[in-house]
Amino acid sequence: MDMFVVQGGRSLSGSLRVSGSKNASLPIMAATLAVDGVVNLANVPNLADVRTLARLLEQLGMHVHRSDGGGLRLQTISASTSVADYDLVRTMRASVCVLGPLLARRGWACVSLPGGCQIGHRPIDLHLRGLAALGAELWTERGYVFGRCSRLRGARIPLSGVQGSTVTGTCNVLSAAVLAEGTTVIEGAACEPEVVDLANFLNACGARITGQGTPELTIDGVDALHGCDYEVIPDRIEAATLLTAAAMTRGTLSLSGVVAEHLEVVLQVLRDVGARIELEEDSIRLTGPDVIQPAEVTAVPYPGFPTDTQAQLMALLSLAKGRSVVKDCVFPDRFLHVSELCRLGAKIQREGNTALIEGVPYLSGANVMASDLRASAALVLAAVAARDESTIRRIYHLDRGYEQLECKLNQLGASVTRTVDAPQNIPLPLQPSTLIPPGIKRPA
Ligand code: EPZ
Repeated sequence: MDMFVVQGGRSLSGSLRVSGSKNASLPIMAATLAVDGVVNLANVPNLADVRTLARLLEQLGMHVHRSDGGGLRLQTISASTSVADYDLVRTMRASVCVLGPLLARRGWACVSLPGGCQIGHRPIDLHLRGLAALGAELWTERGYVFGRCSRLRGARIPLSGVQGSTVTGTCNVLSAAVLAEGTTVIEGAACEPEVVDLANFLNACGARITGQGTPELTIDGVDALHGCDYEVIPDRIEAATLLTAAAMTRGTLSLSGVVAEHLEVVLQVLRDVGARIELEEDSIRLTGPDVIQPAEVTAVPYPGFPTDTQAQLMALLSLAKGRSVVKDCVFPDRFLHVSELCRLGAKIQREGNTALIEGVPYLSGANVMASDLRASAALVLAAVAARDESTIRRIYHLDRGYEQLECKLNQLGASVTRTVDAPQNIPLPLQPSTLIPPGIKRPA
């Protein structure tokens, strides 16, 4: 199992280009199950979740090929099986997005319920409610969702739940409704840029979707979707992660290939904590502050502050001059990074879906363990900013959603070494002499 050894105390500066969006690529790849023809996707990041979904699509009778130019070529070769089995689905929740296109195109599906997740309870009741409203017969048995239907029928579907809109739920229902007979209206749809990107992709395949980016999507069903060439949007969460890294290490970063409007609230929070931000054509230039100001931030669905960047922001606010508050209204339990940040010297107290952060003058290197994708990113940022050396175990969490993040950070001046988690690779613990404050005699 891989781990990182990080030499801290580095300022991160330089220029980088952001990768394509993981959370746009996954539902778009799943939606190609509903397409008759070849789809060429550009700007799809080469990371673990994309590779996992590619394997699942091949199990479902598709040919998925990474071209020399880095794009993905996808085409259905055989529709002989519509079973998405537990082994792959349990490793990646977004696999559930194959359910809608399989029902729409093949009339039946058997998809393992997605595995549990470290960021909290993640049901799929809204996905199932939406697909049932389109006329699918769905039942769950032995950890699988079974579904069958003749041709789906358009319907008016209220799709938000107690916690608000659902991103992949909207994607799942949207990818089914495009082939339904008649018109579908999805109320309470997610407005995230990744949902907009899926709608634009489906329209490029001949679908007829309007309202993308608003809570109400209207879909006039068509009989078939044709292949197309499509470029996936940049990854706004990777961009936010890299900008936060520069902001917490007093660095100067120029990020290209970004869509600034996808990051409006994140950029405002970074300005609030003292960063200077300049926007150019398709790039963002950030200069980190000498003194990080505290902030109060609440994660809510788009266009609000993204829950996928609250862990990284918490790492930054750990070094603020004063007390900050971070609340997560999307995933109230998404705080597993708190205890690990505290091992690095942060002073954070959790109260329900809220974290109270008392800024400290510096973080100190330690041995920490990643727990989920964005918590891992927060730990890497904190270790890069901390004094001394840190180790971060279970880096496979990070590899799920970032394309070689350590290489990008090292390009900016960090010192992050990937190694195998084995005793001989663990730096020796702090020597006793460095643990005993000066002036105190060592015990005999
Ligand atoms: C997507 O997850 C993203 N994943 C997540 O990013 C992101 O954190 C999340 O949206 C919120 O923005 C992908 O796009 C692959 P939701 P998703 O359905 O769709 C509740 C990352 O780090 N809910 O929008 O699974 C749910 O429990 C990942 O890249 C129901 O109650 O999230 C949550 O509280 C982590 N019933 C809220 O809605 C449902 O049927 C929002 O969840 C579905 C969701």
